[in-house]
Parts: sequence; C-alpha cells; structure tokens
Amino acid sequence: MTRSCPSHTRFALSVLLGIALSCGARAASPSGQAPAGSGRGVYEHWCAPCHAPGPGHPGTQSLQVKYGGKTPAVLLERTDLTPESVAFFVRHGVLSMPPFRKTEITDAQLAAVAAYVARGSRAP
Ligand code: HEC
Repeated sequence: MTRSCPSHTRFALSVLLGIALSCGARAASPSGQAPAGSGRGVYEHWCAPCHAPGPGHPGTQSLQVKYGGKTPAVLLERTDLTPESVAFFVRHGVLSMPPFRKTEITDAQLAAVAAYVARGSRAP
C-alpha cells in the first residue's frame, strides 16, 4: 500500500525571500544636513564613520572591548568626556584612531566638535 504525501509548497519561502530582497536595497538617504563647521557637522564627517553605533565601526567596537560595557561604547552616549579630553584624543590619536591635523580639523572646528561630543558630560 502506497501513500503519496502532498508536495510541500516550498516555493512560498522563496517568494517571501524575493520580496525581502527587493526592499531595503537603498538606504542612502542623505543624513549630513548639519552645517559643515558645526560640532555635529564635524562629528558626522570625521568621527561617525568610526564612532557611530553598531557593528562595522572600529571606534565603537574598540571602546566596547576597552570598557566591557561599563561605559557606553558609543561616543555620543558618554557622560564622562570633557571637551579637553576629546580634543586631546583628536589631536593625539589613540590605537587605530589617527591624530587629526589642523589642516583637517581646525582649532575652531575642534572646539566645536569637542563641545558637541562632550555635551552629555556631567563633569563641571
Ligand atoms: C579611524 C577610526 C576613527 C576615527 C575616524 C575617529 N576615531 Fe576616535 N577612536 C577610534 C578608536 C579605535 C578608539 C578607541 C581606542 C581604544 O580602544 O582605546 C577611539 C577613541 C576615541 C576617544 C577616547 C575614548 C576613550 O574613552 O578612550 C575619543 C574621545 C575619540 N575617539 C573621539 C573621536 C573624535 C571626536 C573623532 C572625530 C574627530 C574620532 N574619534 C575619530 C577610532 C576612530
């Protein structure tokens, strides 16, 4: 006696996959509306590629390892950074973070970005 099972409709999965793949291919909405000289503008241009949240950002990942979650790995979530300490790291670099020259980030831009990054600081 033979029983034939109904064939499973596996292709339904590939239909769903096709829909998923056709969406979300372009997420390149321009996010840099901040003026270039503003603290946020400097941050987004020079710092966010390494310090933005999520994987693929070496600064965020390195700080995750360094602090083991005791301090936020995302720079903008920190509450312990002073403008002076941020400026020091920017001019001197640390590990894979390069020092930034005045031809890249001027003193005025550095003051702006340091204040921007340290804005969550509760330090006096
Ligand atoms: C090429 C990637 C890269 C860029 C660009 C970069 N950083 Fe970093 N930054 C790092 C890495 C990696 C570390 C962490 C080193 C470590 O683990 O001690 C770091 C550490 C820091 C720290 C020290 C935090 C701490 O507690 O030790 C500060 C502050 C900082 N970056 C600010 C900035 C600012 C401001 C900018 C933009 C002007 C910037 N970084 C651009 C990679 C980068």
